[in-house]
Amino acid sequence: MTTVHLETRMPDFDVVIRGGTVATAADVFDADVGIVDGRVAALGARLGSAETEYDAKGKYVLPGGIDSHCHIAQLSGTGLMTADDFETGTRSAMCGGTTTLIPFAAQHKGMSLRDALATAHADAGPKAMIDYALHLIVSDPTPQVLGQELPQIVKEGYTSFKIYMTYDALKLNDREVLEVLALGRREGAVVMVHAENHDVIAYLTDELLSAGKTAPKYHAVAHSWIAEREATHRAISLAEIIDVPILIVHVSGGQAIEQIRSAQARGLKVFAETCPQYLFLTESDLDRDGMEGAKCVCSPPPRDAANQELVWRGLETGVFEIFSSDHAPYRMDTGGKLRNGPKAHFKQIANGVPGLEVRLPLLFSEGVRTGRISLEQFVALTSTNAAKLYGIYPQKGSISVGADADIAIWDPDCEVSISQSMLHDAMDYTPYEGRTVRGWPVMTFSRGDLVWADGNVNATPGRGRFLRRDKSYTIYNRA
Ligand code: URP
Ligand code: ZN
Ligand code: ZN
Repeated sequence: MTTVHLETRMPDFDVVIRGGTVATAADVFDADVGIVDGRVAALGARLGSAETEYDAKGKYVLPGGIDSHCHIAQLSGTGLMTADDFETGTRSAMCGGTTTLIPFAAQHKGMSLRDALATAHADAGPKAMIDYALHLIVSDPTPQVLGQELPQIVKEGYTSFKIYMTYDALKLNDREVLEVLALGRREGAVVMVHAENHDVIAYLTDELLSAGKTAPKYHAVAHSWIAEREATHRAISLAEIIDVPILIVHVSGGQAIEQIRSAQARGLKVFAETCPQYLFLTESDLDRDGMEGAKCVCSPPPRDAANQELVWRGLETGVFEIFSSDHAPYRMDTGGKLRNGPKAHFKQIANGVPGLEVRLPLLFSEGVRTGRISLEQFVALTSTNAAKLYGIYPQKGSISVGADADIAIWDPDCEVSISQSMLHDAMDYTPYEGRTVRGWPVMTFSRGDLVWADGNVNATPGRGRFLRRDKSYTIYNRA
């Protein structure tokens, strides 16, 4: 990549990215991209001069990714802090071509939503290097929360929240789910649902543990696909009763997909998200030697190869709206996954896998390069659909005149062997160690600033801005 400074006359643009192949969710075309004041000002052939120019010949020029499901500076239900804060989390994201994060402000029982927001903002404000919004996690839907706090907070730009049907400390019962869904309908917020049947998981866990089956691989047995299918069906049914759209997050396999597909076929606004762990890991990864399997313990767990195929089919055929990381970073040390010692049983292992930085390269390599999905689908699944669903479109999620110049330049031939040592998060492992991908973002721009280029990070903590969000464009503006 060459950088040319032109000094002879007043330039037309601050930045021009020249000669690349631009892709949006709708089109792929050759164009220069002109940037003024951090926004896209022009797209076209042979754009005029710029203060700084970047040569993108032979490269793809894509909207920066939006990772709309990641856990950053967040306490888990069991009180464990994620390894990544907003500095390391945003740094890692932008080095993997992502330019916007939407993590969670988590309410724990007895806590107000305002306190949850204040906690998240206190970390994000001084540390974030790229722009971010926040979802809420609602775990204690008291009359005060549902009647006063949450409606006001939605109006202030937090237009989505996640609820859980499992985890001891977070789960809501069906009555509570209905009440939260009704609020989502009244206020026009997006409700994200973690759909697994809690009692089934608790029962199977007890059975397995009393039979001495404690290894990480039994996590995948306890978190059975039947528990996921049943809860997915129930969540859809509860949303149908309230007549409100929902999003089922981190869908792991065929049976849950079938529930979603059939609801979509009936005309229900049921959206779905999946994540790298369901395409690139299987349940056999939980059976790695010793406690190595703990690295891949997440919920729902990765399934088998046949289910991986069905998740790919769901991406190809449009069942899925969103491809996010569900980055939930707990290190493999005594402050993280092994908090309960090297012989912890599977229920004591923190749930979650990291994936912020490798989310896009994994899907690009195995999805776009293999021809399973088009470049337009890649952009839609990793950026545009999230911008639209979560109310930050068209500021984010596209390369169009007026949009923020959040752009990643991809070298489609760059071959990378993934290893933790090259990543920029605060983790001590990646479950994808040793996997080779082709295609990597070599430059990332955030509002026109070059924040990642050829292996170098160039952003200061605190430059990221908080995004107050509108109502969902997908739900309220789509015919
Ligand atoms: O195992 C996972 N997915 N951990 C993160 C929390 C959640 O449920 O998304
Ligand atoms: Zn979840
Ligand atoms: Zn999650």
